[in-house]
Amino acid sequence: MKKKILITGGAGFIGSHVVRRFIKKYPDYLIYNLDKLTYAGNLHNLDDVSDAENYQFIKGDIVDAPFINQLFNEYQFDGVIHLAAESHVDRSITNPLEFIMTNVVGTVNLLNASKTIWKDSFQGKLFYHVSTDEVYGSLGEMGLFTETTSYDPQSPYSASKASSDHFVRAYNNTYGIPVVISNCSNNYGANQFPEKLIPLFINNIKENRSLPVYGDGKYTRDWLWVEDHAAAIDQIYHEGEVGETYNIGGVNEWQNIDLIKLLCQIMDKKLGRDEGTSVQLIEYIKDRPGHDRRYAIDASKIERELGWKPSLKFEEGLEKTIDWYLDNEEWLSNITSGDYKNYYNDQYGKGAHV
Ligand code: NAD
Ligand code: TYD
Repeated sequence: MKKKILITGGAGFIGSHVVRRFIKKYPDYLIYNLDKLTYAGNLHNLDDVSDAENYQFIKGDIVDAPFINQLFNEYQFDGVIHLAAESHVDRSITNPLEFIMTNVVGTVNLLNASKTIWKDSFQGKLFYHVSTDEVYGSLGEMGLFTETTSYDPQSPYSASKASSDHFVRAYNNTYGIPVVISNCSNNYGANQFPEKLIPLFINNIKENRSLPVYGDGKYTRDWLWVEDHAAAIDQIYHEGEVGETYNIGGVNEWQNIDLIKLLCQIMDKKLGRDEGTSVQLIEYIKDRPGHDRRYAIDASKIERELGWKPSLKFEEGLEKTIDWYLDNEEWLSNITSGDYKNYYNDQYGKGAHV
């Protein structure tokens, strides 16, 4: 019998890289991709593998408990890799309830359904919950998040992810469900929706639109190439210890403003513009409410125990990412119409400026 693995959120940014990796690397698994196809979900992310024999897409909402129970009952999955989520901090500030529904209630629905179908034996089963470093809150100038750092979420997004992490651990503790959790730093790479910093700014530079920098621009993030995250997820799924948490990070901290200047520099070269052209598009705007100052991951546990570490230097990854966006104009133009325009105007229109 082939192992059946459910990947949720597989039409999204990170999920699509995980789905592709599993389809290609594990022909003996059957990979099911469950996704609601919200604004962030895009089946074109998987065009190159959608005909694979070991792959099936299922459209559905993890918040819909009867649907989820029926689905699990029908397919009897052996493993779940759970990535489906509302994932953008700015949207969570506007609409927290949607984050509670998908990120908390949706996760609990998946846990309940797993508990039911695995009730006779947990042997060979695993519920892998993909989470974020944002659950740990914000760091000062020094220090790193470790797996034992106390939770201190500051945004509705991170509060909902923190809550889902607690439920996953509670289901392990209370019902014995085999779980594993990873908390990763900011990802970048191909197929990321252009509401997040890097793809938004690549697109804006290309279109000669202003680059809206929140606050003083000195907020710090630890950036990891998405394919390195997918590799870590693969390794944790197969070699991670049940009940454990693994932090994943790029060991690659950048203040936003330095990263943005680097982006401008590379883009000027790629677009044949004079050096110093794109940097003039920078515009400091009103800060994000409750903006976390700094995230940085101590990824020594996953390196020590599983031998994982980032494979790519940031400058190289950034260049690859820019090339991907410049080569995939159609992908970008398909998603930057309609709803995206309304979102953009609401987020960056009048009132956003200082
Ligand atoms: P994304 O927003 O690009 O994709 C999320 C996917 O989930 C989309 O395909 C969407 O359609 C789907 N989805 C949303 N609500 C759903 C629902 N109710 N039912 C079924 N599907 C639904 O997100 P991403 O950046 O790929 O993040 C994936 C996961 O990784 C999330 O759990 C996120 O918290 C976590 N994470 C992201 C980052 C990052 O930098 N992007 C870093 C660490 C952890
Ligand atoms: P983002 O990509 O939204 O990820 P997160 O908030 O989950 O870390 O933002 C990364 C950083 O870039 C964060 O400090 C906020 C900042 N930022 C801007 O300055 N302007 C923007 O338009 C966006 C989207 C983000």
